Amino acid sequence: MSHILLRDLDLADIGKLDVYVANGGYEGLKKAVAMPPGAVIDVVKASGLRGRGGAGFPTGVKWGFIPQDNPVNYVVVNADESEPGTFKDRQLLTGNPHQVIEGALIGAYAVRARAVYIYCRGEFWDLAHRLDARIEEARAAGFVGENILGSGWSCEVYTHLGAGAYICGEESALLNSLQGLLGQPRLRPPFPAQKGGGLYYEPTVVNNVETLANVPYILANGADAYRKFGTEQSPGVKIFCVSGHAERPGNYELPLGTTFRELIYEHAGGVRGGKQLKGILTAGVSAPILPATDAVLDTPLTYEDVLNAGSSLGSASIILLDETVNMAWAALKMVRFFKHESCGKCTPCREGCYWMLQLLERLNRGGGAPGDVDLLDEVAAQMIGKCLCALGDFALNPARGTIQHFRADYDALFEAAGEVEAEVETEPVSEPVGV
Ligand SMILES: Cc1cc2nc3c(=O)[nH]c(=O)nc-3n(C[C@H](O)[C@H](O)[C@H](O)COP(=O)(O)O)c2cc1C
Repeated sequence: MSHILLRDLDLADIGKLDVYVANGGYEGLKKAVAMPPGAVIDVVKASGLRGRGGAGFPTGVKWGFIPQDNPVNYVVVNADESEPGTFKDRQLLTGNPHQVIEGALIGAYAVRARAVYIYCRGEFWDLAHRLDARIEEARAAGFVGENILGSGWSCEVYTHLGAGAYICGEESALLNSLQGLLGQPRLRPPFPAQKGGGLYYEPTVVNNVETLANVPYILANGADAYRKFGTEQSPGVKIFCVSGHAERPGNYELPLGTTFRELIYEHAGGVRGGKQLKGILTAGVSAPILPATDAVLDTPLTYEDVLNAGSSLGSASIILLDETVNMAWAALKMVRFFKHESCGKCTPCREGCYWMLQLLERLNRGGGAPGDVDLLDEVAAQMIGKCLCALGDFALNPARGTIQHFRADYDALFEAAGEVEAEVETEPVSEPVGV
């Protein structure tokens, strides 16, 4: 099957405007501007496309929330891509940038937006500047700017660089950052789609890069063509980022509904060095780890099936952990990340991350007290649903997931510490000098 999203793998120069156009590029936009905006939203709704940024919210429904009579609406493309193990948006924006620009323009037309902002994480400096050149190419061809394709509708596209903060991927913190404010989440409601909640407090659609990259295909080929891929509740294709102890890490575009086993063993070459797979992180580090049981490996990669298996598909960043990994150590690494990235605005996240890290450091140093594991679980449980944004809910998953499925790894830390202590105690004690 040729790719719908990662078309740079099939056509090396698809990033160039002439090659993109010669291969059907901007046909979706042409179709869209010939339709009433509401009809474009209906096509995207019918396709069942769900947001690829993490939450899997239906894209057409989100677009439908924007008041069509508001004079100023915005579309913001979330290219923050800060989730550990996530590297798909970077490939799309580098290899097939016009498809993202086209998707964003179709979205902008559908919600009658006059401007699109592509918010890139700070580390995407080179990428953002190359993207500027692509936007100019599109402008010269009449796809961006005044009176697009003679439709009477005008829209600008801008890139914006953040400073490189995980929290700025959270949509309301992103909007603050884009406005030049501190990148911290806003209180909701109002939500971004509502007056008062979006960019410059105007109704705003925030969509992930990959979400929008699907849209040109849907407009050009129709909702039914898109629904030929994937499942009823999770239609279409998805880019799975595979990393960790994989033999062949990388981005794999496959229909939703592909199983973990197919992705890991058929596409990504299995576990490095032929080792046993122990755990699978499904959404970078922000969803609970799953043990690599047969039942989990046979789970289809859809929003609903991964949820039923006890985790979340999220950005579909699959990190493999082999038999050599102590999961209490892995939890330490993950919580250290969240402690560093917590913006500090709300107390449960700020303090919860701090205390989880204290406990995990103590446990991993071998200085843990009996009951520390239960205390860690309790601190994590206290954070559930109490934080201002989902970062807090993500942050508690490494501790809770590893305790639930790999408690023995915590016990192993006590055993190792006990052995070291016993060795120290049996060592002959020399007389202090000078006594
Ligand atoms: C801490 C945090 C980080 C996030 N990072 C990203 C990100 O890097 N990219 C992204 O598209 N969405 C990210 N999200 C999700 C966004 O808030 C938002 O749901 C998404 O951009 C909506 O786009 P979609 O509907 O197309 O998925 C993050 C959410 C949280 C709570």
